[in-house]
Amino acid sequence: MVNTLFKNLLIISAGVLVMSACKKPVNSGTEKDVPEMPSTAPNYSKSTNDELAYLGRVLFYDKKLSSNNAIACASCHKQANGFADNGAVSEGVNGQLTSRNAPPVFPKNGRLFWDGRAGSLSDMVIMPITNTVEMNSTSFDALCSELSATSYYPKLFNAAFNSESITKEKIRTALTEFVRNFDFSSNRFKSSTGAFGKALTSDENNGKDLFFGKAKCSECHHVDQGGFGGMGNGYGVTDESHNIGLDYQSTDGGCGDFNKISAQHGEFMMPVLLNVELTAPYMHDGRFATLEEVVEHYNSKVVLSPTLDWRLKDFSDFKDLNDAKAKLDKNKNNKIEENEAPNRQAQRLNLSDSEKANLVKFLKTLTDKNLLSDSKFDNPFIH
Ligand code: HEC
Ligand code: HEC
Repeated sequence: MVNTLFKNLLIISAGVLVMSACKKPVNSGTEKDVPEMPSTAPNYSKSTNDELAYLGRVLFYDKKLSSNNAIACASCHKQANGFADNGAVSEGVNGQLTSRNAPPVFPKNGRLFWDGRAGSLSDMVIMPITNTVEMNSTSFDALCSELSATSYYPKLFNAAFNSESITKEKIRTALTEFVRNFDFSSNRFKSSTGAFGKALTSDENNGKDLFFGKAKCSECHHVDQGGFGGMGNGYGVTDESHNIGLDYQSTDGGCGDFNKISAQHGEFMMPVLLNVELTAPYMHDGRFATLEEVVEHYNSKVVLSPTLDWRLKDFSDFKDLNDAKAKLDKNKNNKIEENEAPNRQAQRLNLSDSEKANLVKFLKTLTDKNLLSDSKFDNPFIH
């Protein structure tokens, strides 16, 4: 037992030494036309084929993927901003603006994009390349020929696939492999229990109790302390969409528009809350600049509409939502949603100033900045 513990400590400290030895300041140097060509790719912990993940990284940072050679994935998913965009919307080719806020890059399971229009990560990763606003490379054949003509892609594809040929499917596979390595799970919330855990402060704990209790956040944000290491649900996200009452009639119908289902008007897919401190502004349209504004929305501004999620309605005549569920939904048959909720108003949480501040403090325990200074994830064209 002691022996294993000691061994683990040794491994951890050796790891820290190796990591700090490899670390160089992110984005130091000058931008070149060709990426760094290391003799062997760095070690990506979620990959068995590091060369494939490295190829994905080069593609992610390469402006040649866009029609005017000016926009890379990383132009909108910025490392310094937790791989989200710090603008409400993002600028694509020729100054065109996206209609939604760029969320952080995460290897989510289930549907992706705010309206859920991508069925899986590997479906999703190549969609921005042909999107006319974002990268506008409408012909994959033309793009593959362009990449084949560079000095570096034939070598990189050969290292990853044992063949220099470049295809859309290989681009998809490489981008997916890189994104699979985005892990933001070393956060204080996760490490706040266990033998080496550093407890949360009393304010943070109060925020946590509100998140999982009175404020009802965990009804939808399934933040799971135990599962952070995994994929999909481990990141606190399930394949769900909800209307959180931002507007009565949304200009962007979200999942409702995409699925052509009016009962889903104003529903958007669940965002990841890991690193939410770093990914302002918030919501599908980036309307909130701060987490304080987000919390105030849930506290006092939820708009009642025919498609508002029933969980965001007023059940203050019960002890809490679980109590309401136990009493109203005895048969676990979604009776609340169907029978009870239509008659209810939008919730007013009536949180005190310190409760609101503590909720924000709790959200900030979900921050993991490791990848923001990890050279395995920075721009390989700057060297
Ligand atoms: C011009 C800006 C821009 C570029 C370039 C861009 N994205 Fe995005 N990205 C966005 C926006 C905006 C969204 C949200 C769009 C939506 O949901 O309708 C998004 C969504 C995503 C998501 C979905 C996240 C989720 O949780 O649902 C991932 C992953 C992603 N982009 C990866 C990439 C990759 C990989 C590339 C390069 C091939 C790329 N993006 C290029 C702006 C951009
Ligand atoms: C009914 C389900 C539901 C409940 C309850 C809920 N949320 Fe959300 N939350 C969502 C959805 C869906 C979005 C995305 C909405 C959009 O962009 O239109 C979201 C967005 C957010 C965002 C912005 C994330 C980003 O990257 O833009 C934060 C932060 C957040 N919620 C925190 C909370 C907190 C704190 C609570 C509790 C006070 C809470 N949520 C309660 C479903 C919910």
